[in-house]
Amino acid sequence: MITMRADWWNADSYHPWIDPLVQAAFGADIDLHWDLYLQTHAHRLQHGTDCEAYPSPPSRAPLWAVLAEQLPSRPETILETGTGIGYSTVLIAEAFPLARVFTIERDAEHRRTAERMFRDAGAADRITIVPSMADAPIERCDLVFVDGPAVDTARLRPGCLFIDDAVKRAFRAAAIAALEPLRKPTGDAEAALRRARQRYRDAAAELERAARDRRRT
Ligand SMILES: C[S@@+](CC[C@H](N)C(=O)[O-])C[C@H]1O[C@@H](n2cnc3c(N)ncnc32)[C@H](O)[C@@H]1O
Ligand SMILES: [Zn+2]
Repeated sequence: MITMRADWWNADSYHPWIDPLVQAAFGADIDLHWDLYLQTHAHRLQHGTDCEAYPSPPSRAPLWAVLAEQLPSRPETILETGTGIGYSTVLIAEAFPLARVFTIERDAEHRRTAERMFRDAGAADRITIVPSMADAPIERCDLVFVDGPAVDTARLRPGCLFIDDAVKRAFRAAAIAALEPLRKPTGDAEAALRRARQRYRDAAAELERAARDRRRT
């Protein structure tokens, strides 16, 4: 069982019980890359207090593969803002193996480490790290994931799936609610896992609707 409590984490918003439940519900089908999640925490401890590479919550790790199953058309060009050392970038690149992924990171040490992660994941030829928003092809992207600097929505193309902080927050609450019943399973354990996976898929479908509406406004 993995329970992480790093120096910076706000105990009110972190739910350590969820990590093994994410693994139980999705770990057999999706590489959730705990290795990169844990390496990101380890990186933060050695990089120092100014380091901003807070890794994405594990409850979001299955999202990309779930979205890839559900989207009516796969995004060809994806932008992530805020690479850190590449944890979420690798999850995204693996979920969308035909996409070109751009990711923005201003910290040179993060960029160097992330490049190594991308090579190790066999995805380096599809991922481009750029140091700033000015170097990112925002107008061409079908999916934009904000996990660092904000994006000027006026630059997004129509139909772009725009996952910003508000969409992320709503999804996170729904994902936690989807998995929470697994804490005290009653009856058929496999049926409980199936129900949890379905609720998580429903949360991903809701995220997709919200992300499209977000672009329209
Ligand atoms: C929350 S972390 C990204 C975490 C990563 N997506 C993950 O799941 O592991 C945000 C990152 O954005 C970078 N960052 C913050 N402001 C930036 C800016 N204005 N331009 C480029 N990168 C920025 C930070 O250095 C940090 O690594
Ligand atoms: Zn760092």
